[in-house]
Formats: sequence, C-alpha cells, structure tokens
Amino acid sequence: MHYQKLAPALSSVLAFLPLGLSTPRPFGHYGPEGAVLFLNGFHFVSGHSDWEISANHYCVIIRDDMLQCAIYNTATTPAHLAGIEYIITSDAFETLDYEGEKINQIDHVYEVTSGFLTQPGLPASVDHTIMKDVLVGTYGKTFHTWRFDQQNSTYPIGIPELVMGYTGDDQLTPDFVTKRDEMFGLNTTEIREARSDIPHPPVVAGADSWKYGYVLSLGIVNQTANTTFPNDGQQVVLSS
Ligand SMILES: *[C@@H]1O[C@H](CO)[C@@H](O)[C@H](O)[C@H]1NC(C)=O
Ligand SMILES: *[C@@H]1O[C@H](CO)[C@@H](O)[C@H](O)[C@H]1NC(C)=O
Ligand SMILES: *[C@@H]1O[C@H](CO)[C@@H](O)[C@H](O)[C@H]1NC(C)=O
Ligand SMILES: *[C@@H]1O[C@H](CO)[C@@H](O)[C@H](O)[C@H]1NC(C)=O
Repeated sequence: MHYQKLAPALSSVLAFLPLGLSTPRPFGHYGPEGAVLFLNGFHFVSGHSDWEISANHYCVIIRDDMLQCAIYNTATTPAHLAGIEYIITSDAFETLDYEGEKINQIDHVYEVTSGFLTQPGLPASVDHTIMKDVLVGTYGKTFHTWRFDQQNSTYPIGIPELVMGYTGDDQLTPDFVTKRDEMFGLNTTEIREARSDIPHPPVVAGADSWKYGYVLSLGIVNQTANTTFPNDGQQVVLSS
C-alpha cells in the first residue's frame, strides 16, 4: 500500500518548501514545536450531528505511520486548545480491534476529496501532493476537550468528547464552509475540483461508526472505593 509511510512522503514534499511555509500560523504562533502540517477541517460531536466544529490542526510526525495533531479553535486570541487528533495509516488501522478502537475513528477520504480538509497558506500543488500521497488513506481518532465555540464557556468545562468526520454531501451546513473559506481566503469548490483526480481508497469497516448507528460518548463514573494512597500515613523523606 502506498499509504504505509506518512513521514517519508511528507518529508519529500515539504523539503521543497521555503523554511517556515510548511506550517503557516495565520493566528499567531501556537501549536506544538516541530509541527509540519497546518490543517483546517470540520468535525461533529458523536451523537450531535448539528454540533459543527471548525478545527485547526497542528501536526507533528511521530513515526512513519503516525501523525499527532494539537487542535485549536479558529480565530480566537489567544488560541484555545480544543482537542487532539491521532492520525494513522490504513495499514495501521487494519491492525486495530474492531470494538473499542476502530469504531472510535474516522476515515479521511471524503474530507480530502470534498475539499473540506484544507491547508491554508500552502501552494495548491503542494497541498494536492500531501492530500493524495499522505492524508487521503489515513484514519483519525479525535477527542475535543474544549468546545469553546459551542459551549461558549470561559473555562474548559465538561469532559472530552469523541468527534466524527463528514463522509458525504448534504451533511455540513454550507454556511459553515463559506465562513471558513472567507476566514482563510479559500474556495472549497475550487479545492474540490483540483482534487478530483485523487483516487478514493476503500474505507476499512469500523471507521465512522455513526454510520452504523453508534453514538460514542465518555462519562465520568463516580463510585465509592478505597481512596487511600499506597504510602498513606508515612512521612515522605526526599533525598537532597
Ligand atoms: C456567547 O456569549 C456571548 C456573551 O454572553 C453572547 O453574546 C453570544 O451570543 C453567545 N454565543 C453562543 C453561541 O451562545
Ligand atoms: C469559488 O469557485 C467557484 C468555481 O471556480 C466559483 O464559481 C465561485 O464563485 C467561487 N466562490 C467564491 C466565493 O469566490
Ligand atoms: C458520588 O457518589 C457518592 C456515593 O453515592 C455520593 O454521596 C456523592 O454525592 C457523589 N458525588 C458526586 C459529585 O456526584
Ligand atoms: C485500602 O488500601 C490500603 C492500601 O492498599 C490498604 O492498606 C487498606 O487495607 C485498604 N482498605 C480497605 C478498607 O480495603
């Protein structure tokens, strides 16, 4: 499979970019050091298809088959850390358990071919290569920790939420895409047309579990148990 190795594919594309262009930071310097990708795309909270989120991903390479992204809310100053996404190759995804793991993840085929997943600031040809050679066949596991936009909260209240990705037309509010396009100076229609030659790899069963009718959410469990620490009652002596 040509999606086996993310890192070499990315490195060979990014090597041709002027220093600094690979991680445009339109809203100031944030995101992890060493980020090689800046992606804007859309998520919705599992079970709440109307909770649409515009997510800015800053991704670092962890291994040949894995990227790790910190997600920030759009256009807030300072940026609010909103979640994390782990991106893996289809080969890696194949090895995972169905229950409990594959069903947490989303595929990226439609996100790429629809033009929803974008790389603001990158030349179109570089974007095309990264989408085709690196991202279209990948899967992502994404939790949002602070839905600043929807909850409208000054503090990160609540618990992390699993989010899903869009897989077809007529799911996401067109307005939402238009606003994103205006913010970044993009045209999703043109991006979609430019990517029309990108092949659609088959989606491995288990991903996008909302399609099977599953709603996956976290919950805090409060149960009475032994809450003593192993060292309870003893004086800790720290060596100097
Ligand atoms: C967020 O709060 C502000 C100030 O209270 C209010 O004007 C705005 O409408 C709220 N937005 C949402 C999405 O609830
Ligand atoms: C985006 O591109 C399409 C196709 O070129 C064009 O028809 C449309 O008017 C553009 N939209 C905007 C907002 O410029
Ligand atoms: C946790 O559970 C205990 C025992 O049922 C209960 O007394 C307590 O109020 C609960 N705490 C919270 C924060 O729900
Ligand atoms: C709770 O755990 C501590 C430490 O392991 C142990 O010494 C203690 O006996 C336990 N208490 C109960 C009621 O099980």
